[in-house]
Amino acid sequence: MTSSDPSNPATLFPSTLISPTVTAALPSGYTLRPLQRNDFHAGFLDVLRVLTHVGDVTQAEFEAQFDQMKGAAGGYHILVILDGEEKIVGTGALVVERKFIHHLGLVGHIEDIAVAKDQQGKKLGLRIIQALDFVAEKTGCYKTILDCSEANEGFYVKCGFKRAGLEMAHYY
Ligand code: ACO
Repeated sequence: MTSSDPSNPATLFPSTLISPTVTAALPSGYTLRPLQRNDFHAGFLDVLRVLTHVGDVTQAEFEAQFDQMKGAAGGYHILVILDGEEKIVGTGALVVERKFIHHLGLVGHIEDIAVAKDQQGKKLGLRIIQALDFVAEKTGCYKTILDCSEANEGFYVKCGFKRAGLEMAHYY
């Protein structure tokens, strides 16, 4: 799905899933919204580079990935925080997994939380998690889970999460 009208860019998920309470708690001039198809030049991938290796993703690749995510039946919710100059300074994702267990339950997976280095410590990370929690509740998830390093445990505890289980991985 694409948007040909630049004044009405495609959003990855409906703006009605953005919490007004979290938006109101942002620093003055900052905004919170779903990722848009025209966000390639707004600093989105640079913010993700705070988190990990991103690679040399082209605009065409970014837009193709956006279209794949948007086509995935409401599964992908990537939101961004912008500063007063419309630069993306924070991002986070909630991927909603559909299950057969728990009577067709939905589980939210929090992924790829990142705040630009010079913007850390302003509660933007907390706001991102609160906004993703709002999306999870609104979409009917019965729980939300995430993996993180020991170094970030304290951040997620402050966001209301508690340690549960153990992560294991196969890399390909
Ligand atoms: N350990 C313990 N406490 C922390 C940490 C930490 N690593 N980071 C923040 N906090 C605390 C803050 O001090 C604050 O506490 P307070 O309420 O008592 O003042 C509270 O958590 C909220 O902090 P924020 O200001 O919202 O945090 P920030 O905006 O700096 O974002 C984040 C935190 C996202 C971890 C940021 O530092 C970052 O982008 N780091 C690099 C990328 C990264 O590691 N992302 C997480 C990967 S895990 C995943 O994606 C599921």
